[in-house]
Amino acid sequence: MNRSITAIFCKLSLLLLYTFFFIPESLYAQQNIIIPVETGQNAFVLQVNKEKRTEIMYFGKKMNAEDYSTISGQYKQVEDNAGIYNSAYTPSGSWNLVEPAIRITHGDGNTSLDLQYISHQTTKQDDNVSVTAVLLKDPVYAVEVSLFYKVYNKENVMEQWTVITNKEKKPIVLSKYASANLYFIANNYFLNHYHGTWAQEMKPEETKLTAGIKVLDSKLGTRANLFQPPTFMLSFDKPASEDEGKVLLGTLAWSGNFQIEFEMDSYHNLRLIAGINPFASEYTLKTGQEFKTPSFITTYSEHGKGEASRNLHNWARKYRLLDGEGSRLTLLNNWEATYFDFDEPRLTGLFKDAKKLGVDMFLLDDGWFGNKYPRNSDHTALGDWQENIKKLPHGIGYLVKEAKEAGVKFGIWLEPEMVSPKSELYEKHKDWVIRQPERPEHYFRNQLVLDLSNPQVQNFVFGILDSMFIKNPEIAFIKWDCNAVIYNANSEYLKRTGQPQTHLYVDYVKGLYKVLERIRSKYPKVPMMLCSGGGGRVDYEALKYFTEFWPSDDTDPLERIYMQWEYSYFFPVVATCNHITDWSKLPLKFRTDVAMMGKMGYDIVVSKLNEKDLQFSQQAVANYKSFSDVVWHGDMYRLVSPYEKPFASLMFVNENKNRAIVFSYLTNNRYMNPTSSLTPVQLRGLDPQKKYSIREINLYPGTGSSLKNDLVLTGEELMTVGFNPDVNGGRMSVVVEVKELK
Ligand code: DGJ
Repeated sequence: MNRSITAIFCKLSLLLLYTFFFIPESLYAQQNIIIPVETGQNAFVLQVNKEKRTEIMYFGKKMNAEDYSTISGQYKQVEDNAGIYNSAYTPSGSWNLVEPAIRITHGDGNTSLDLQYISHQTTKQDDNVSVTAVLLKDPVYAVEVSLFYKVYNKENVMEQWTVITNKEKKPIVLSKYASANLYFIANNYFLNHYHGTWAQEMKPEETKLTAGIKVLDSKLGTRANLFQPPTFMLSFDKPASEDEGKVLLGTLAWSGNFQIEFEMDSYHNLRLIAGINPFASEYTLKTGQEFKTPSFITTYSEHGKGEASRNLHNWARKYRLLDGEGSRLTLLNNWEATYFDFDEPRLTGLFKDAKKLGVDMFLLDDGWFGNKYPRNSDHTALGDWQENIKKLPHGIGYLVKEAKEAGVKFGIWLEPEMVSPKSELYEKHKDWVIRQPERPEHYFRNQLVLDLSNPQVQNFVFGILDSMFIKNPEIAFIKWDCNAVIYNANSEYLKRTGQPQTHLYVDYVKGLYKVLERIRSKYPKVPMMLCSGGGGRVDYEALKYFTEFWPSDDTDPLERIYMQWEYSYFFPVVATCNHITDWSKLPLKFRTDVAMMGKMGYDIVVSKLNEKDLQFSQQAVANYKSFSDVVWHGDMYRLVSPYEKPFASLMFVNENKNRAIVFSYLTNNRYMNPTSSLTPVQLRGLDPQKKYSIREINLYPGTGSSLKNDLVLTGEELMTVGFNPDVNGGRMSVVVEVKELK
């Protein structure tokens, strides 16, 4: 055989082997091993070098498999330490000088780590999902690291995590243990990340990354997203727009402290390391123990942020969000209508209001519990989950029954991870509370956090929900709130059991997941809302257990347009709870239309609505029910950005492309500003061949539409020229149904 034929033969046989087979160590010696991890459109390619180190060779558009083998030869970035910049999982303490993904102190006190390739294996779970596992080992110490890459072919999503195993004879200490280590080569990098605080969640900021390390992190323990969520968009070469540009969307599936680092190396390449925040979290692994990191989830598109976000929506609805492909309950919540001030007659009156409105359920919020210290303000009673006998002398069971008689389901608010310093639970079980006994207590919203690293506390928290369901099997919904961060991080339980305090932040979150796991194995279906004093907690690990989340206490619809816009890049709107409240003086129709772009609910005093407002709301609930399927499960397109124009336009199209709902809002009503949509809005996602009727819906009683009656346009025309929703000061929000004409 001549040399080129031999090379082709070798390549082909290796290709066949590595696609779905295990590569034994002996084969490695013969040739560099290439490990392509591919989705329908993208590829992430690892290569094992001569020193048996696993490097990231390529990240981007999928190519022919044989093309990957020649990539490495094209790069001349090889001097000194550069060889480790693109490590698939960067160790520390040996020759690495850049930010590591892992740091270990071995049983004998040695702090160095080297990781060499041992084997890899790709397992197909079904036609769409496969997992590639790469096993690495330290040549000197008995430490193993397995890198997992799970790909969802159609959705173009990659989920990655790491398992670290201690096979040494003594315990080892992990002081960094990232979930993901990625490497990108582009001309420039633009990071779109988020910051905020209570009622101001998800404020975007785009930064061109420069030399050095940019870190997104949280050290709050619980309610960890309050100032910054573990979500970002990273554009390559130039900032990606909605429909153009190369962009990676990333998010960490972890409900506690996180750290996402973007380090530009000396070649202007970008290193990304993401995982649990190592801050105060050194983790000891005994002999034989393993540590599984949370998942880091990414999707990559070369066609802009819109496509990338639809990838995530499709993936989340199908594979992650609890009941992501199911439906949701519309509701009336009493929080802003009553706050803590209610009793049985007032609540049963509200059940009737919920029915009058036409929603599916009444949700009883905070304030229903505590007797020694009644919950009449946010200073007391968290932990004392018994009905307050003055407010509710006949208990929750009576309310469930009354709600049923009124024709609505009944849901209830809980904040099970928390304790008030003024509570019987605190008096009885101070050792269950996260606090430093020798320091003054610090409160966040006048409360403290229970120590979920303690199995007894886990039982207690599980018991709160379990006994609620046992006593009231017809409870149809739980709102799970979490209003405090962790101050004075110290656990009596860890102390008592001889475990390091530095396990607390991690074991808290693991304890939370254990509770949620138990709840879901016993009550798999009951819808639950993930709430955290607004949007302090939403991530794709928690969303395995929750059907929806509360993005923010800020329900001003103008603010919400921006906030929901940003959340929607990462989470499908079926998971986003939007309530109509009295936070704003903007017209009820505007508030309602904004809430319709997700899971709609009400938090208003129905009895104070005037006749027309009530009539409008009743029709709105009915309209919403008629098209919510399109919003919840259709493809979402952001058409006009409120950051660029004085109005916003978004649409949802169903799978068959025969029905779409288009929402448009005036977002800037300043004097002399163009206060109307001067140009048409080009729609997306329709079938160019189909004919569609355009009809304005959800009109306020007594107002007509300024859109032409019986307007029929082709999909082609709607997507090329578009139509004008005629948004203006007199028509601040417009909802249009686009329906195939047969
Ligand atoms: C914070 C939540 O975000 C609100 O909706 C409400 O449930 C209050 N907590 C109750 O205390």
